[in-house]
Amino acid sequence: MTNRLTSTQTGTHHWQTLWLNINLATMTEGGIGYGEITCAALAISDGKIAWLGKEADLPEYNASDVKVIDGQGKWLTPGLIDCHTHLVYGGNRANEFEMRLQGKSYQEIALAGGGIVSTVKATRAATEGELLVSALPRLTALHQEGVTTVEIKSGYGLDLENEIKMLNVAGELAKQLPVTIKRTFLGAHALPVEFKDDADGYIALVCHEVIPAIAKEQLADSVDVFCEHIGFNLAQTERVFTAAQQNNLSIKVHAEQLSDLGGTELAAKYQALSSEHVEFLSEPGVKAMSAANMTAVLLPGAFYFLRETQLPPIELLRKHDVAIAIATDVNPGSSPICSLQLMLNMACTLFKLTPSEALAGVTCNAAKALGFSTSKGQLSVGFDADIAIWNISQPAELCYQFGVNPLSGLIQNGRQVI
Ligand code: NIG
Ligand code: FE
Repeated sequence: MTNRLTSTQTGTHHWQTLWLNINLATMTEGGIGYGEITCAALAISDGKIAWLGKEADLPEYNASDVKVIDGQGKWLTPGLIDCHTHLVYGGNRANEFEMRLQGKSYQEIALAGGGIVSTVKATRAATEGELLVSALPRLTALHQEGVTTVEIKSGYGLDLENEIKMLNVAGELAKQLPVTIKRTFLGAHALPVEFKDDADGYIALVCHEVIPAIAKEQLADSVDVFCEHIGFNLAQTERVFTAAQQNNLSIKVHAEQLSDLGGTELAAKYQALSSEHVEFLSEPGVKAMSAANMTAVLLPGAFYFLRETQLPPIELLRKHDVAIAIATDVNPGSSPICSLQLMLNMACTLFKLTPSEALAGVTCNAAKALGFSTSKGQLSVGFDADIAIWNISQPAELCYQFGVNPLSGLIQNGRQVI
């Protein structure tokens, strides 16, 4: 049957799927609004979005060529993007959670040999297969909530062999589930025991051995550093950035989470993609991010779980037009929380983001933080057809209610996977 006839004047539409009777939150406005199109239609071809707009404006198409789906008035958003996780790790740190409830702080536990270093021990002891088995439920939980792209950082191996093991597991996860995985090398996460009192020696290993090996094998796209008094200082951070640049890897930084060391400004000098956490960031740092077109990745789960009180400088980020992304920071120490939907709620309740800013934080701005700003995170023609379908009556519901998963379907690269 031919519906409105295939248009030869405008070229044949080789659409594979056409959604009718839907509403769209296109997220093309960077969080100012949702970029809403109600009573809409959306066509998919070759894994990309081929057309979208008001259903009444649908061009001519050949109905026998295309699978037409009645969207029953549901809302479509870009597939959600969790742009900061550490979801591959061994063991867990429930014991440290208990210690914190008995009065010890996260920093005290880290300085006493617990914290990241205790997860390093468990991660080194685990095989690739064991790490995969423990990471899969975490990735599945994200996926079931509408996530189509996840960034995974290494950083619990802290030597060549174990960092590569973690990155291999992250790569393997993308074969197990229909999720795009972006890998980040976070060798400069903590000091391994064998380099106790020799942080510079460890940084030399990271820069001269590990980064070149990872770049050569294409095991990661970016390099991250934990720039903090319990992590690495500015000079060490800069050495890692230089090595990343020399090996054509993009740069990210964990900075200004617990104090204002200046890691963000340093990262801006190296044209980093993002600075992450940033609770203690001051105005010069915000300005530097703006000038370098960096994204601020906010992590409300870590803020909540560590019971932090220093709020990230939201007003300054708005004032200087810095894109704000939101992520789970899934990790065993500061955010053992595998729910990006909960982060949407917390971004609004704890950080006072508007629901459209929060949704932008897990779509267009999260894509920007990963270097995907022209292919993911928006419903736009030519973008990857990564699309979440929701049983909601307005987009703000995604931030407002928590605990009842409103996901009705999920499309990754044009293929319906939920
Ligand atoms: O993002 N800040 C450093 N890294 C993680 C915590 C990792 C851990 O405690 O295991 C974070 O909060
Ligand atoms: Fe983190």
